Amino acid sequence: MAEELIIPISTDRSEIYEALYPQIQALVESESDLIANLANVTAALKEAFGFFWVGFYIVKEGQLVLGPFQGPIACTRIAFNKGVCGASYTRKEILIVPDVEQFPGHIACNSASKSEIVLPVFHRNGTVAMVLDVDSDRPDDFSETDARELGRIIKLIERTL
Ligand code: SME
Repeated sequence: MAEELIIPISTDRSEIYEALYPQIQALVESESDLIANLANVTAALKEAFGFFWVGFYIVKEGQLVLGPFQGPIACTRIAFNKGVCGASYTRKEILIVPDVEQFPGHIACNSASKSEIVLPVFHRNGTVAMVLDVDSDRPDDFSETDARELGRIIKLIERTL
């Protein structure tokens, strides 16, 4: 597998996702280790889009525990009923938060984070295995395009669980 991402120079996020998807697919399909794959997915998203923070929180010991990520250090443990990550886990839904200040119970790991999207990653039996949290330092930075395209990317991880 190539060890360099090829990312088009574009301001169109859909175009970048389109180029990124087969590369992430090749990475994930050529490696069986979950942590290695989660680490590369976060690195690929960070490199392609320059998001402020990209990482996984993994369901462990009855809470969400920090997994592979790219960006500044972050909270290590999140209760299922706390923050956007906990809400996504509990509701089993993708959550787009255009303004984190307006989200009741939002956990501010870093005050630079202004908007975020969190996606649950499912086991085959329908329980949530982890969540993918992507934070931006710009308000209202995530759309249905991100929900759809990040959703396709985490399906690649789900197939390996
Ligand atoms: N903001 C998240 C917590 C995780 S960090 O921002 C990296 C939340 O409210 O769940």
